[in-house]
Amino acid sequence: MNRLRPTCRVVRALLALLALLALTPCAVPNGAAASSAATLSAGAVASPDRYGALAAREVLRAGGNAVDAAVATGFALAVTYPEAGNLGGGGFMTLYVNGHAYFLDYRETAPAKAGAAMYLDARGEPIANLSLVGNLSVGVPGTVRGMAEAHRRFGSLSWARDLAPAIRYAHRGFLVTAQLIGIRDDSRAPFEGVTNFDRSFAAMQAGKLFRQPALARTLERIAKGGDQEFYEGPTADLLIAQMAHGPTAGLITREDLARYRAVWREPVRERWNSYEVITAPPPSSGGIALLQLLRMKQDAAPLFRGVVLNSPQYMHLTAEIEKRVFADRAEYLGDPDFVKVPVGELLSDEYLARRAAEIDASKPSPLAAIQPGLERGDRDKPQTTHYSIVDRWGNAVSNTYTLNGWFGAGVVVEGAGFLLNDEMDDFSVKPGVPNQYGVVGGDANAIAPYKRPLSSMTPTILTENGRVAMVIGTPGGSRIFTSLFQVLADVYDFGLALQPALAQLRFHHQLLPESTMFSEPYAPFDSALVDGLAQRGYRVEAQDFNGDIEAIQIIGNSPLAAADPRARGVAMIVR
Ligand code: GLY
Repeated sequence: MNRLRPTCRVVRALLALLALLALTPCAVPNGAAASSAATLSAGAVASPDRYGALAAREVLRAGGNAVDAAVATGFALAVTYPEAGNLGGGGFMTLYVNGHAYFLDYRETAPAKAGAAMYLDARGEPIANLSLVGNLSVGVPGTVRGMAEAHRRFGSLSWARDLAPAIRYAHRGFLVTAQLIGIRDDSRAPFEGVTNFDRSFAAMQAGKLFRQPALARTLERIAKGGDQEFYEGPTADLLIAQMAHGPTAGLITREDLARYRAVWREPVRERWNSYEVITAPPPSSGGIALLQLLRMKQDAAPLFRGVVLNSPQYMHLTAEIEKRVFADRAEYLGDPDFVKVPVGELLSDEYLARRAAEIDASKPSPLAAIQPGLERGDRDKPQTTHYSIVDRWGNAVSNTYTLNGWFGAGVVVEGAGFLLNDEMDDFSVKPGVPNQYGVVGGDANAIAPYKRPLSSMTPTILTENGRVAMVIGTPGGSRIFTSLFQVLADVYDFGLALQPALAQLRFHHQLLPESTMFSEPYAPFDSALVDGLAQRGYRVEAQDFNGDIEAIQIIGNSPLAAADPRARGVAMIVR
């Protein structure tokens, strides 16, 4: 990266000189040569709120790189986007740094005391809400370690500098939007009388500044003591103390916190058109699913020829692909440290061509014809958040992180001011039995100590000739990868500009419920569309949510940043 620490620069210069003297080809990982070839006219950020964007801008203007900006935005959103931005959750970061792709998994883990039957009653039936609300639903948080790990490896400004905007927002307050209040009011009922949520968040009012002094002190401790402070210091003490409060005791121990690790994994990387798609590997299902969608559409190109974007026939053909993707997702996906996920086979040319050839162009393929995987649809919650960042050296970060549901478990760590996740609900609570959403989980995603629950988060970067072409991601649970697929198809197959592509209608099909096409509140289907789908055998169901995609496209050497009109996102070019 151009913004290497001085010692690294000296070492690299010496290495480069030695390589030159030896007259051998000089491969300099993360070298300046690689990044200068990709230099951009400006940096850019697309963030789910204004404060996240301002934090990135501040750090980029201070000379920080995309990773510094990603750390700054991650911590800022933990203050100003409390419904999903977090310290007490986890996520995934896809990075492209000096021409090299990386993926950081900082997903939550199950505590050591967790077990497959922990949410079942004496008759073996799932107990309502136990995996969704309160202490027992909380997985060991990964966000602070993830941010620290990314910063240790690639950051160029100091850790404290990157946390400065968040600390300021927590101290001075941020302006609360009506949208945030709407989300709070829609989310709080399950927390009432069960968690301490209202004690911290009932005071938020639209149009007023909201200050969080306890959170500010926590951020100051983390700025000073690093991630170790969060996992082993006074913040850890407060988190452990919180586990003993409330109607259900939590399982997280000091040892769980101390042994939590973020993991660098190989990203999923596949060619699509002239691009390399760099995206999330397991324990996300999203990267594999996104690539299956993109490549099966390519294989089925003759069927799509001349078909109008978002027409009934376009939706039908896409649904035929989606149902095959969901069948695989149900069967094979889980934490790769615990189960073998056949990534190569699921993405092989031969396999995808065979699956695409099964598409019925005129009507929905019967469920019985879609094997394997009839036993599981979607389980994960759609409320997550994403931001995309590029710096002027051509480096990029695509980051999706989450508390799972809005405001997670609804539990605030008292004295520390941050919310804890309910990520344990992303496991199969009882493999083989439908959960409260009518969804059935498989063994690959059963609960086990230290295991990571299956996710759909899909932070993605596209490159072309080694240069970043697109940075993109979204919340939305299982709608994440079907949404990203639609926007990528809109931009690259239909030639739409990025902002209109984000504003397009979106639809979703996921095998179960059978022959059901989901619409979204932002762009409800008109009657002609509903009739056209009915003629092809679909019923239309309205879903109450769709993710706000935050994306940056690079055209030439200029970034074009776009925030989804569905929420309160802000995109900025940073000069
Ligand atoms: N909790 C949502 C996801 O991980 O996909």
